[in-house]
Amino acid sequence: MKTILDFQDKKAKKEKISMVTCYDYTFARILAESDVDCLLVGDSLAMTMHGHKTTLNASVNMMALHTAAVVRGAGDKFVVGDLPFMSYRKGLTANMTYVEKIMKAGAHAVKLEGASGNIELVRHLLDSGVPVMGHLGLTPQSVNQLGGFKVQGRDEKAQKKIKEQALQLQDAGAFSVVLECVPSKLAKEITASLEIPTIGIGGGPDCDGQVLVLQDMLGMTPGFKPKFLKQYFNGFEAMKEAFNTYHQEVTEGKFPTEKESYS
Ligand code: KIV
Repeated sequence: MKTILDFQDKKAKKEKISMVTCYDYTFARILAESDVDCLLVGDSLAMTMHGHKTTLNASVNMMALHTAAVVRGAGDKFVVGDLPFMSYRKGLTANMTYVEKIMKAGAHAVKLEGASGNIELVRHLLDSGVPVMGHLGLTPQSVNQLGGFKVQGRDEKAQKKIKEQALQLQDAGAFSVVLECVPSKLAKEITASLEIPTIGIGGGPDCDGQVLVLQDMLGMTPGFKPKFLKQYFNGFEAMKEAFNTYHQEVTEGKFPTEKESYS
């Protein structure tokens, strides 16, 4: 996928959209040669790349640095850059300065969490030529307000609110919306009610697309096994084994040999 028009097109053709988070040049190069549709430089990088407990520690400078690295490896993949915690709640001028940084780092669109208080900004971004992806349900930047990383939209009132927010984001011009950790039935209803595609993560099988955090899907985060996660590789063990083999060969004098040496 190369532009936001492809998102619309996929929804119209009922073709699923695949998105993976990516935070660096090396993985971007692999993903560039894969069939995955779209890369997200998620603010989850605060956790996966910098070891923080939540996404609240992601800053605009971090996001811009990682976005630029991803874009250098991503070929013609569509790259979405997350707006980090608080960076779009500071008044229009400041907000736009931060968005400018992410876009000038090479993102093709930005993603922001929640609808309440963001709708005017989404409209303004659209008028400024910046495509916006929404993010509803479990919005990790609000983890303290939500009382933890919990499934959202369990009761009728909460479901109504998420449905309304999805429509508000669509009306404001968002080109797609991530639905994180909501009951499948709710995600299905929202997906049916929207013209723009929904991208699920813990939203069940009926979203228009799916996103997973790269380290999680590659099995590099042992101990982290939420219900929605499927691991496609045992990366932690596979890489540990490679490191151990290297260590063993070095310590036993088996590497380097003549083959890896200059005459
Ligand atoms: O930052 C992130 O990784 C995300 C995904 C979970 C959608 O926002």
